[in-house]
Amino acid sequence: LMADSLYIINNFAREYFSNTLFNTEEGQNVGLSYFEERGFTQETIRKFQLGYSLNTWDAFTKTALAKGYNLDYLQKTGLVTVRNEQPGDNYRGRVIFPIHNQSGKVLGFGARILVKNDRAPKYVNSPENEIYVKNRVLYGTYFARHAIDKLNECLLVEGYTDVVSLHQAGIENVVASSGTSLTQHQLRLIKKYTNNLTILFDGDNAGVKAALRGLDMAIEEGLNVKLVLIPDKEDPDSYVQKIGADAFREFIANNKQDFVLFKLQISMQEAGNDSSRKSQLVNEIAETISKIDKTEDFTRQQDYIRQCSQLLKIDEQGLINLVNKFIR
Ligand code: CTP
Ligand code: MN
Ligand code: MN
Ligand code: MN
Ligand code: MN
Repeated sequence: LMADSLYIINNFAREYFSNTLFNTEEGQNVGLSYFEERGFTQETIRKFQLGYSLNTWDAFTKTALAKGYNLDYLQKTGLVTVRNEQPGDNYRGRVIFPIHNQSGKVLGFGARILVKNDRAPKYVNSPENEIYVKNRVLYGTYFARHAIDKLNECLLVEGYTDVVSLHQAGIENVVASSGTSLTQHQLRLIKKYTNNLTILFDGDNAGVKAALRGLDMAIEEGLNVKLVLIPDKEDPDSYVQKIGADAFREFIANNKQDFVLFKLQISMQEAGNDSSRKSQLVNEIAETISKIDKTEDFTRQQDYIRQCSQLLKIDEQGLINLVNKFIR
């Protein structure tokens, strides 16, 4: 089967990149030093099966072809590209983050450049294929699933390194959206383990906007969504490395806010004294509240109605009536 062949090639590549990282001079001098500078321990690097791809034209490609792997399949995984009829390595001089499915099989890779520049993308990711469907995957699920289940909460971050650093700090119930806004498939993946989702995003506009976009869908899926804004210029990785595990945990505990109420406050600030925008946002919040799944928790919808009507300084029964208009 095609899928099996792709898994086999990815597993071979995972081992190859890991071996390159630990057992070649370039891997040690360039790749390992890079990870060490970022504060990743050996244990962490081994756990996440991180690797390094040599800065050569075709070192991986030659080895894989010599092993007898099929060129078409190698291209499908994105590990090999053909330029001017010459097959060569797609990832060159990059550190490698394997992307696992829920049972630990490698679906694809994220490959980070060592020094950011304007000529090449920071990350090169596997193309979509029979086994890697980007919008169905959350990075880190394999390593996080037991902790998510046990703590009955899933933390969501943006990037690979956020997941890795938080694990190293002992915070293991964390997965990454890999820089895109959440899809329904991803929300359902989370729901297999918990109904409680806490989003840890950059305080910058892009981060918050991306998170807000996912809100209505998350509510519709019956998730209980909380938000923690990470301070300016930081992300969970840089922040936990900066302040340490204990302070980071404390920061999360003290800064967790309800996402529906957060959204309302943002909208209220934007609306200001404009009465038509105000009534529009009352409608919007009523629609959001109407989507809360009452079969899971009846009082949650009532709590929101009470809190939102207080924030909006409107009559509670009026908001109830409006919410009911959206329920059919
Ligand atoms: N991303 C990507 N391609 C890019 C930039 C980002 O696929 N060119 C994805 C990656 O999954 C990345 C995530 O979006 O982890 C978040 O992006 P960003 O915050 O820019 O990267 P970090 O994860 O913080 O990575 P680093 O700390 O190494 O800069
Ligand atoms: Mn559970
Ligand atoms: Mn950002
Ligand atoms: Mn980062
Ligand atoms: Mn980041």
